[in-house]
Amino acid sequence: MSSEPATAAIVAAAGRGERLGSGAPKALRLLGGLPLLAHAVRALAAAPSVDLVVVAAPPDHVERTQALLVGHHDGAALLVVAGGDSRPASVCAALAALPTTVDVVLVHDAARPLVPVTLVESVATAVRAGARAVVPGVPVVDTVKQVQGDQVVATLDRTRLRAVQTPQGFSRAVLEQAYAGTGWSATDLTDDAGLVERIGTPVAVVPGHEEAFKVTQPVDLIVAEAVLAARGVLA
Ligand code: C5P
Repeated sequence: MSSEPATAAIVAAAGRGERLGSGAPKALRLLGGLPLLAHAVRALAAAPSVDLVVVAAPPDHVERTQALLVGHHDGAALLVVAGGDSRPASVCAALAALPTTVDVVLVHDAARPLVPVTLVESVATAVRAGARAVVPGVPVVDTVKQVQGDQVVATLDRTRLRAVQTPQGFSRAVLEQAYAGTGWSATDLTDDAGLVERIGTPVAVVPGHEEAFKVTQPVDLIVAEAVLAARGVLA
């Protein structure tokens, strides 16, 4: 990388992925013959704005992760670090490894392997254009109810809701400030923007993409295979 201001994409990939069933860590599960993580890294590296991809890998699979990503990060440099025992701890480990030239950081879940390159680029561009924090969001199609036990307490106005995806984009200074505080615990933090909101920084929303969905349950892998096939990647 040159000494110009640079954009890095952190990939949180250290989860066990137990909801997907037993087997390899989720990021290393195969989709169309390639690990989920390799799909995600390919998309991030292919975005013109992204100079460096930093993967937070399962701590016991760092070397294996490095080896399997060879040839899958065209367009960007690659760094693999050991992740932590929670998603925020994994993001912190990757943040600590960033070169000083990086001033814009995207954070992506390896569990979203089919994120379109155009979505990565639109998040990065919005941060470069001046937003300090950006999330991609899609309208919520189901009616969402708040419940207590087995009773409905309220019906939320879904026109005001967005399901938020990754990559989320940040000015590096804002993301580091958010993680430097003590106001987070691994259990109540499901995304990075949530932490940035807590320090009072405005978070902008850009349109998300249906193909940036998260692979969580076994059925999601079936959908992902179908999306790959529709893209013409599989026979
Ligand atoms: O479990 P969940 O699907 O919410 O995880 C979201 C992302 O965070 C996944 O890509 C997973 O690999 C990552 N993660 C991580 N380190 C952990 C736990 C989860 O990087 N300790």
